[in-house]
Amino acid sequence: MKQLSVIGAGNVGKVLGAALKEKGYPLAAAFCRTDLSRRTAEQVLQCFVYDDKCRAAAAGDIVFLTTPDQVIEEVCSDIAEAGGFRPGQIVLHTSGAHSSAVLAAAREHGAHVLSFHPLQTFPGLEVGLQSLPGTFFAVEGDAEGFAVAEELVAALGGKILSIPTEMKPLYHAAACVACNYLVSLMDVALKMYDVMDIPVQSAMEALSPLIQGTLRNIAALGPQQALTGPIARGDVSTILSHLGKMEQQCPELMPLYKELGKYTVDLARRKGTLEEVAAKEINKLLGG
Ligand SMILES: NC(=O)c1ccc[n+]([C@@H]2O[C@H](COP(=O)([O-])OP(=O)(O)OC[C@H]3O[C@@H](n4cnc5c(N)ncnc54)[C@H](OP(=O)(O)O)[C@@H]3O)[C@@H](O)[C@H]2O)c1
Repeated sequence: MKQLSVIGAGNVGKVLGAALKEKGYPLAAAFCRTDLSRRTAEQVLQCFVYDDKCRAAAAGDIVFLTTPDQVIEEVCSDIAEAGGFRPGQIVLHTSGAHSSAVLAAAREHGAHVLSFHPLQTFPGLEVGLQSLPGTFFAVEGDAEGFAVAEELVAALGGKILSIPTEMKPLYHAAACVACNYLVSLMDVALKMYDVMDIPVQSAMEALSPLIQGTLRNIAALGPQQALTGPIARGDVSTILSHLGKMEQQCPELMPLYKELGKYTVDLARRKGTLEEVAAKEINKLLGG
């Protein structure tokens, strides 16, 4: 079986390294910058963790560059200059925003390069490992590396999402909306409950069944049919009461409420439950 190297054994590097090791892929080496990260990586990955990225890369047939996005290209160039890549090696990074083009330096040394982005969130090792099965991996890059990417995804219990190289930033922007902005929206809801002195934990407990139910409905019906609430019903007086109370209690949250409200008016019109007259009235209240 091909040997793996993990350059940047942080959250994603540790999760992918540990999961693939569990599936029988031998881990040749890893690299971390700091002593603390090296010690943690050694414990989790049970392999030699170098403080020299070139040696760590050279040890693997499949090299994961799992550093922060902004240094992938630089780290790849450093390794290439130091002679860490060779013909036939597969070099992957896991950034959602960048394409495989940032690995050009490895390709110049004969390696096949791919971007291999798990469409998943990895805040830590345990939850990361639990979330992997069923995760989609957006893959693009050299055709010669695709068979290996397919093998890796199958071993991880995931599925492949093939995307055009030039659309990578748009693909990632959508992922950020679905993941990060959803988190921010929950934070906004908690802030509104905080105004009423409802503690965060109680507010979270109360909102959780609503959030879970909404997610189930979106997955089953799609956003259009899952939409309920005052905008979908054309309940103008309710929107008016929201805006009045928010102006008194949390005016700083109104621009976001209004922007999303305007988008929701359009969605409700597409759903067909919001009459044109009510849509115009609500849009006006929302500053549209
Ligand atoms: N976390 C997620 O939810 C997630 C999901 C999908 C994709 N991704 C992508 O996965 C990649 C890694 O993200 P992450 O969350 O795992 O990051 P992370 O936890 O911050 O880990 C980054 C790793 O890179 C090393 N590193 C940092 N700067 C470096 C440099 N200048 N040169 C060499 N190594 C360096 C760090 O070493 P030290 O610890 O020693 O500093 C660490 O081992 C990113 O491209 C990210 O976009 C992340």
